[in-house]
Amino acid sequence: MKIESFAYKNGSLEWQGASVRQLAAEYGTPLYVYSEAAILDRIARLRSAFGSRRAGIYYSVKANSNLSVLRIISGAGCGADIVSGGELFRCLKAGLTPEKIVFSGVGKSADEIRYAINTGILFLSVESPAELEAIGKIAQEMGKTARISVRVNPDVDPKTHPYISTGLKENKFGISHREVVSIYKLAASLPGIQPTGLGFHIGSQITDLSAFKEAGQIAVRLVNAVRAEGINLHHLDVGGGLGISYLDEKAPAPEEYARQIIDSVGLPDLELMFDPGRSIVGNSGILVSRLLYLKGAEAARDAKGASIQRADDANSPKTFYICDAGMNDLLRPSLYDAYHHVYSDPERPLSGFGDLVGPVCESGDFFAKDRAMPAFKAGDLAVLASAGAYGFTMASNYNSRPRPAEVLIRSDGRAEIVRKRESFEDLIRGE
Ligand SMILES: Cc1ncc(COP(=O)(O)O)c(C=O)c1O
Repeated sequence: MKIESFAYKNGSLEWQGASVRQLAAEYGTPLYVYSEAAILDRIARLRSAFGSRRAGIYYSVKANSNLSVLRIISGAGCGADIVSGGELFRCLKAGLTPEKIVFSGVGKSADEIRYAINTGILFLSVESPAELEAIGKIAQEMGKTARISVRVNPDVDPKTHPYISTGLKENKFGISHREVVSIYKLAASLPGIQPTGLGFHIGSQITDLSAFKEAGQIAVRLVNAVRAEGINLHHLDVGGGLGISYLDEKAPAPEEYARQIIDSVGLPDLELMFDPGRSIVGNSGILVSRLLYLKGAEAARDAKGASIQRADDANSPKTFYICDAGMNDLLRPSLYDAYHHVYSDPERPLSGFGDLVGPVCESGDFFAKDRAMPAFKAGDLAVLASAGAYGFTMASNYNSRPRPAEVLIRSDGRAEIVRKRESFEDLIRGE
């Protein structure tokens, strides 16, 4: 199987036309690498999929919030969907205009609400009656009016991993579709509040488009019901969630996705907004690590030249391929059992088998489990594909490990460091 944009040239791995070996030699490992051309291409494809239907892209900053990535996305005319004061700060630093920023999330603090209102963002997405009242009170104290959009929980199943499904009634997100009309009536009665739209976000890594259709139909019924109360709503935010291909999932084409949304929504006077994250940056980034040690069956074979035993043979020890990246650098496999395809540099036959693991002191510190592997040798590069979304943004300093550097390959092929590798001094700053 082959993930887009990878190729071997004379046994050496290239990604997006750049030599991974050279990048590792120049910037060290572990290393995140992103591609400007890939990001721009995905934005262009999503935008053209909606054709003449007005649909604004509000990139979901949580997927990858590097300032240089935000600048690319903002330069392409997109807005931003944020979930914290820190993300708002980043967006403003990257030059996004406040009128192109929307604020989601179930637990906005009073300080964050004040910051957002003061900045003049497009709207705050409301996720509970208590939050609506808090926003109204703060806006009134500030002598301002806060634009809001209610996030509805439509109770539809996006058929994705339970941790990233957000539109079922058992999830903490949004307001039950049954309570939506009454919450808009409350909103319209509060002096500091101006309702402007409605939204939903049902989950992430969605490959079955029927859930978008179902949620869209529910949302439109609600928009009509709210409008019937004399409250005019201008926009519908259909969230993010479009899935990508990590293994052999069939990622829906942007055109199919747009068609489902446009058909289910109708109402041409309603401005469409959506907040993709993963589908823009997921396959626009990789994580490059270096193999430190082999341990177990393959190591023994290496030493004795014996034949490989697969780990599913109860009598054979399994092989651990230990690399210099850990769960603190890329959490997704540990958190969601997520699949990332693994490439070697140099090119090796797929004759190994076992776990690709990191140095962190947790058995959950793995990138691949019981998987066919390139016949790695110590010192090779182990490259994790599809690491551009929810990679660096979820990275931590666990085990006092400095976070990796981030490099961006510009559209003209130049590589540029866009975040320095952290130092030991960075680890203790503020303590
Ligand atoms: C409100 C909202 N919009 C958009 C997204 C982005 O989702 P994705 O990266 O799957 O497109 C999220 C992710 O959790 C979200 O909470």
